[in-house]
Amino acid sequence: KQGINVGLLGLGTVGTGVISIIKQHQQELKHQVGCAVNVAKVLVRDTDKKRGVEVEENWLTTDPAEVCCDPEIDVVIEVMGGVEDTKEHLANALKNKKHVVTANKDLMALYGAELLHLASENGCDLFYEASVAGGIPILRSLADGLAADRITKMMGIVNGTTNYILTKMSQEGSQYLDVLAQAQELGFAESDPTSDVEGLDAARKMAILSTLGFSMDVSLDDVSVKGISQVTDRDLHYCEQLGYTMKLIGIAKRDDDRIEVSVGPTLLPNDHPLAAVNNEYNAVYVYGEAVGETMFYGPGAGSLPTATAVVSDLVTVMKNMRLGVNGHTVHAPLHEKVLKEDKEIDSKY
Ligand code: NAP
Ligand code: HSE
Repeated sequence: KQGINVGLLGLGTVGTGVISIIKQHQQELKHQVGCAVNVAKVLVRDTDKKRGVEVEENWLTTDPAEVCCDPEIDVVIEVMGGVEDTKEHLANALKNKKHVVTANKDLMALYGAELLHLASENGCDLFYEASVAGGIPILRSLADGLAADRITKMMGIVNGTTNYILTKMSQEGSQYLDVLAQAQELGFAESDPTSDVEGLDAARKMAILSTLGFSMDVSLDDVSVKGISQVTDRDLHYCEQLGYTMKLIGIAKRDDDRIEVSVGPTLLPNDHPLAAVNNEYNAVYVYGEAVGETMFYGPGAGSLPTATAVVSDLVTVMKNMRLGVNGHTVHAPLHEKVLKEDKEIDSKY
């Protein structure tokens, strides 16, 4: 067989970035994995729509089975979003022995454990690096780089859209709705930006980080959430006067094996490193008992940064294929989840 065949579900902001990287970095990919990467099929809603990348003949389809059930396709990359139907497509792909890479935090926060289980039952890989903090390799850092440690706290900015909005409102005096429209145009926001501005997107990411970092099944319902839709120009003006910067901060803490996870607008002193994280950039502090404090910083949304995480997952799948070790993602939680009670929660960042 001449190389690895990839099928995509979705060709929007992230999907076009994935195609660009696969086309432009063929040499690097071949060097990493020893064979060519071919795009075979791409699921879209509208086959006549103009795309930001050159689309080859016979690529586009509106039938998910042409991607998820085609025996010629080795890896399915899911960059379409959505939950219930998307879960069905990925379950079909896994049952058809296809490895899966996804950027979908909504799906992973809700059905991650189930899909990971299905993947290992079928001897397949399922990777989801792009689902948290866009181009920052935070999940593989937790799973590999810090695997030996006991993580006690994770804290940071994990939503690019709200950080873009707060940055532009406070530094340039822009109006909330205008900047939200810009974030949508730049491809940072979700198709329904309510999940960004109400803090749900960040909460899903904190649930995924906590599940991985604390080895517990943490779900969206376990996260206390407040967004930025009620933040006004006046609030930001007062913050500035007092020497603070407002950021949407996610915090996950473990204390005596009881955890608390929250997302909300937070005032940081101007000299706090997270106060200097601007626009769509994200940053996450991870505290480990042995390592101490580490910080991860980079673009948290956008086409090419997110696609870099997706294609890097594809490289890992392909390396595993070459070694014949797919399907060994650890998914069973090590610890039983115990949430802190409200009265015990420490509100300090
Ligand atoms: P997008 O620009 O809206 O693109 C979605 C693509 O999926 C479009 O090509 C669309 O087809 C296709 N699609 C959607 N529903 C479909 C359906 N039911 N049947 C067939 N095709 C369908 O979205 P995106 O920004 O690339 O985001 C994709 C995923 O990545 C989401 O899960 C998102 O949360 C995640 N993500 C995004 C970013 C980011 O910065 N944008 C970062 C990290 C993770 P048409 O083009 O024909 O409409
Ligand atoms: N809407 C998300 C954000 C995309 O703004 O962070 C990246 O996950």
